Amino acid sequence: MIIKNAEFLKSSSKWQECPEPKRAEYAFIGRSNVGKSSLINAMMNHKDLAKTSQTPGKTQLINHFLINEQWYLTDLPGYGYAKVSKVKRKDFEKLITNYVLNRVNLVNLFVLVDVRHAPQKIDLEFMQWLGESQIPFSVVFTKADKLSAGNVNKNVEVYRAKMLELWEDLPHMFITSAEKKIGGDEVLSYIDQTNQILVKNKVRFDG
Ligand code: GTP
Ligand code: MG
Repeated sequence: MIIKNAEFLKSSSKWQECPEPKRAEYAFIGRSNVGKSSLINAMMNHKDLAKTSQTPGKTQLINHFLINEQWYLTDLPGYGYAKVSKVKRKDFEKLITNYVLNRVNLVNLFVLVDVRHAPQKIDLEFMQWLGESQIPFSVVFTKADKLSAGNVNKNVEVYRAKMLELWEDLPHMFITSAEKKIGGDEVLSYIDQTNQILVKNKVRFDG
């Protein structure tokens, strides 16, 4: 997919404030600091469309972008950031779960995980919850530039094996690096194909 247009629309503190759900929506989610905002920028070929930071907890609101005047791309706050207060962490969790469960035009969630780490309980539990809630999702490995290709593949295999303990079928998986601009095109192709399937099946969100 060629990105002709990527426009920031709105930051929302709850799902009820999000832009009208009249277009297909794809959202990036995952632990704080995993690289959600950076990957959005890399995919959109834009240095600072989404705000990034070395300090975890940068994205605190639901951020909507309108892509090619056609579909929404959403940058969500990270979950599981230990250094904020318990109350604040709970607030973020509530914001995320309410968004996921109530956003009627959400077509697919991309769950980002840092490819350097062994499968983390918090991510596996989150995906388990998505499965139980029947929310379609894909896994996006981030920061592939920080490992050798061999170690990237090794870690992805470990992840697949771990997920197969819990799942019969594996979700789509993508290997990416925002730094080296790897894998973003595959994610965009997937979104493009999904949009085409929606059109073919006459699924519309604009009434
Ligand atoms: P929150 O908004 O806090 O949840 O974080 P986030 O998931 O949006 O992460 P963000 O994109 O802000 O990136 C966090 C840090 O990781 C920044 O210092 C980025 O430069 C770095 N980073 C993100 N993606 C990559 C990548 O592909 N490679 C490398 N080497 N660093 C990355
Ligand atoms: Mg962010």
